[in-house]
Amino acid sequence: MILALETSCDETAAAVVTYRGEIRSNVVASQVELHAAYGGVVPEIASRRHLELVSPVLREALGEAGATLDDVDTVAVTAGPGLIGALLVGVAAAKGLAWARALPLVPVNHLHGHVASLFLEPQALEPPFTCLLASGGHTLLLDVRDRDWGSMEVIGSTLDDAAGEAFDKGARLLGLGYPGGAEIDRLAREGDPEAYMFPVARVPGLDFSFSGLKTALLYAVRDLSAAELEARRADLAASYQRAIVRALVERIAATGADRVAIVGGVAANSELRESLPEAHAAPLRLCTDNAAMIASAARFTGPVPAAEYLALDAFASAT
Ligand code: KG4
Ligand code: ZN
Repeated sequence: MILALETSCDETAAAVVTYRGEIRSNVVASQVELHAAYGGVVPEIASRRHLELVSPVLREALGEAGATLDDVDTVAVTAGPGLIGALLVGVAAAKGLAWARALPLVPVNHLHGHVASLFLEPQALEPPFTCLLASGGHTLLLDVRDRDWGSMEVIGSTLDDAAGEAFDKGARLLGLGYPGGAEIDRLAREGDPEAYMFPVARVPGLDFSFSGLKTALLYAVRDLSAAELEARRADLAASYQRAIVRALVERIAATGADRVAIVGGVAANSELRESLPEAHAAPLRLCTDNAAMIASAARFTGPVPAAEYLALDAFASAT
């Protein structure tokens, strides 16, 4: 069995997954409340909290799986991209575990992990397919030819903000809590998505751009009194969400792909899921950050030999 750790942002996560892709446990300790007061993730606070949570979360993942370290054959960990201090907590813990038990260690790219959320049972998806990966940090269109990261080619990406970032920044402008995606999703159900016409940037090729949309919302909100904002908040949320979803759906359509999958935190969005009834959407609990997807990706990534992985480093950005 694979024991995986994920600490790239503000969730401390551990999971036990079999080589066949069956999830035995998937524990996610969210730090959301800790960061909410600041309106976003504070990297230093995240690192310190990971340090406190990593051992109990690991223990809980093993316990829920009914397993002990004796049952673990491979240790996997997110090596990047993400917050460097946060990643280092997971990488150091994974190294220590693997070294102490003489186990192989698999460093996993977080983005590969998101795609690999589709390879878990009982609904494992077979490549090839075109995948939209939309999260707080990334918005990518990928041509997925096989299950290893080397077989996934980026065919489109955002030129500025990520789709999740657009949700989070929009939520902030609307005076909603952090993280904003789920809040906008909820409030949008009570609003009229046609109330405002927010522009969706038309950039060449298969790339995305969301910064103009955020500015359009800023202008719409700026002209409203507090009472007016209160009255129009749901309409603004619904219209803003409609614009983001339309941009994502249009780009997917432009690929001409007939097999489409969506992964990442934004793939949890109800309007996006409803707008793409034919697409394979990652299961809801596997959309936002978790360690089961990291274990899944580790199945298709070569391990680093024992002596070598002690020198393994985390990396902050994808390039
Ligand atoms: O994949 P994820 O958990 O972390 C990253 O790798 O970034 O994605 C988090 C992002 C946040 O921006 C959050 O606002 C967004 O996913 N998100 C949503 C929803 N749930 C989470 N966006 C839209 N609708 C949702 N229901
Ligand atoms: Zn993520």
